[in-house]
Amino acid sequence: MSELLNELRSIVGDANVLDQQTVALRASHFWDSSPMQAHALVRPSNTDEVSAVLTACHAAGQPVVTHGGLTGLVDGEKSHNNEIVLSLERMRSIESVDVAGRTMTVQAGCILEQVQQTASDHGLLYGLDLGARGSCTIGGNISTNAGGLSVLRYGMTREQILGLEVVLADGTVLSSMNALLKNNTGYDLKQLFIGSEGTLGIVTKAVLRLRPDTPTCNTALLAFDKFEQVTAVLSHLSATLNSQLNAFEIIWNDFYCLSTSDTTTDSVRAPLSSNYSAYAIVESRGANAVADQKVFTEALEQAMEQGNIVDAVIAQSEKERAQIWTIRENVDVVLRHDPAFIYDISLPIASMETYLETIKQSITSVWPTAIVYAYGHLADSNLHISVAPIPENYGKNPSSTGTETAPLTEEQTQWYRQCNTMVFEPLSDIGGSISAEHGIGLMKKSYLHYSRSEDEIATMRLIKRSLDPTNLLNPGKII
Ligand code: LAC
Ligand code: ZN
Repeated sequence: MSELLNELRSIVGDANVLDQQTVALRASHFWDSSPMQAHALVRPSNTDEVSAVLTACHAAGQPVVTHGGLTGLVDGEKSHNNEIVLSLERMRSIESVDVAGRTMTVQAGCILEQVQQTASDHGLLYGLDLGARGSCTIGGNISTNAGGLSVLRYGMTREQILGLEVVLADGTVLSSMNALLKNNTGYDLKQLFIGSEGTLGIVTKAVLRLRPDTPTCNTALLAFDKFEQVTAVLSHLSATLNSQLNAFEIIWNDFYCLSTSDTTTDSVRAPLSSNYSAYAIVESRGANAVADQKVFTEALEQAMEQGNIVDAVIAQSEKERAQIWTIRENVDVVLRHDPAFIYDISLPIASMETYLETIKQSITSVWPTAIVYAYGHLADSNLHISVAPIPENYGKNPSSTGTETAPLTEEQTQWYRQCNTMVFEPLSDIGGSISAEHGIGLMKKSYLHYSRSEDEIATMRLIKRSLDPTNLLNPGKII
């Protein structure tokens, strides 16, 4: 091993190979301050160095785990002391922006917010947005096919990627830096790596698709008494606002109350009473301030006249807009529960209400006072569910900040498994998915069969074996 480390030092420089002790000074995850584990952490600065590092690791049979912004939610980044972490933190260059062709070429370590800002500086827009925008990297977004807050308009990460450069397990640099919207020339190889969670190759560069900028923004918080009103308003706004509808996020009552009663920050307020059964944040974006506002307000007025919106507040300033979004983005507040189990599922919108009833029934039959928080990207059929089996333990999360994931005790691990089955099992029959946008990583690996057939999983293994026959890239993740 020390021979390999010397070789890695000669590739990236001494300062960019951190030893096990130095690695342990780092937090293992954005939500978990426990020490990061790795035999060493290597920080290459360009594709050639990534390739040389992988060539050396391949020759030595050394497993490698790739790190981006460490904001993933399924333990896809988890590393051990026998593994080498390859971090893309020094690969943050934006190489070029093509305004006419609406593309941007970036290194994979770029932070999402940096890409969004650069697009905006050029009068363009990058179609991906998520709460972790200030920390997550483009490479991490690609390897998890991240979704987020504007999928209904622009699609998931997959739809934002035109070209990729990937380093394969043996160090081969596979360049598919296509910048064309149309290019039907055989297998679209980049698609294999998007969403493969670092198991098939390391993404080093990407050609991103940009869109026209949408500088005007109208945001409202809506309240509903019944779920059928929510779906009626989604249909109505989809039709009247058309492609300008940029976000439609649902928040059920329990999460609205929890988030707006958070006393640790004064940025969360409850602009509407907390008596309604559900809330939605809706946002339209366009380029014509006067016309866009008129269409937005009229669409909401019609929905109110039809009796589908019971109460509403429209943001009158950027500050009010931020306050509304904070209710939704204040997601770590659920982590104050000890324990809290977090899910990211897809299911048909028409089945959501019955599904939530079903899982609440089974969960409270085991933990009678349990709270099932639900919110998410309704228009994408994607819900985030957080289960607090013992809500009496609110504020008792033993982690250092109280808003980190605390390690589960043995008993809680049993509970988690029990809860997983209750949440995942009903999804199979209604055509749902156990992971909408967070991926599989380690956390959902043993439940993959709820969403993928035996043949599908066997084909995944076949692809993994062909591209990484000695299982060196992010070993043990997904399959
Ligand atoms: C969200 C993350 C958890 O939507 O996916 O808040
Ligand atoms: Zn989400």
